[in-house]
Amino acid sequence: MSDKPIIAILGGTGHEGTGLALRWASNGYDVIIGSRQEDKALKATGEINEILGKELVRGMENGAAAREADINVLTVVAAAHEAALTGLKDDLQGKILVDATARIKFPNPKPPAPPSAARLAQDLLGEGVRVVAAFQNIPASALKNLEKDLDSDVLVCADNREDADQVSELIREAGMNAFYVGDLDLAITLEGITAVLVYLNKFNDIKHASIKIVGS
Ligand SMILES: NC(=O)c1ccc[n+]([C@@H]2O[C@H](COP(=O)([O-])OP(=O)(O)OC[C@H]3O[C@@H](n4cnc5c(N)ncnc54)[C@H](OP(=O)(O)O)[C@@H]3O)[C@@H](O)[C@H]2O)c1
Repeated sequence: MSDKPIIAILGGTGHEGTGLALRWASNGYDVIIGSRQEDKALKATGEINEILGKELVRGMENGAAAREADINVLTVVAAAHEAALTGLKDDLQGKILVDATARIKFPNPKPPAPPSAARLAQDLLGEGVRVVAAFQNIPASALKNLEKDLDSDVLVCADNREDADQVSELIREAGMNAFYVGDLDLAITLEGITAVLVYLNKFNDIKHASIKIVGS
């Protein structure tokens, strides 16, 4: 049996979730795609496994996926953040939830006002769930292109440093670097940077702008 944690991606049928699933599954992780509908999860799983050339990813309804997993990652569409968390609150107790939400609205994204989505998640879920914010600045299009190594850094926020470190290890296993930057209140800045990245792409003829930290 693998000593790697089981990762469930809730709302994993979409762009960001599929990209993360591809990266972790191709590095030997047991990944579960969660969806509101089991059928949709199984369809997405079939497509991901076809890309990987092996039956590596499983599909389940979100609640079942959350209960089965050691670590959960939330990639539901930003508008459904609160509703999804309310429905999954009981299933997530005792676990880490990685929240990738960046609440920016197209076509003219603006940085959202505090509190951060991750802080809202922590308040809603209670202290039985340890929320970590990550991946706000990692474009799905880059994650999904397995032919290219990711050259991105992930900024990580959490109230508890040990939880951040555990998630940072998983980020490295997905092929990126990770830097802890502070508590969940700081994650509002990560959401704002996502808006900046959209304009970076638009005004500079860049396809998948993300972040790289220099100065070590
Ligand atoms: N796309 C990116 O490049 C990117 C980058 C960084 C961060 N993010 C963040 O990642 C999250 C997902 O973005 P995305 O582009 O992957 O979104 P998406 O593909 O549009 O949607 C993701 C999933 O959300 C679920 N969903 C839709 N409506 C829902 C509802 N009312 N309740 C519960 N679940 C619902 C759907 O899953 P089911 O229908 O299967 O339930 C859908 O597949 C967002 O918070 C976004 O800010 C995205």
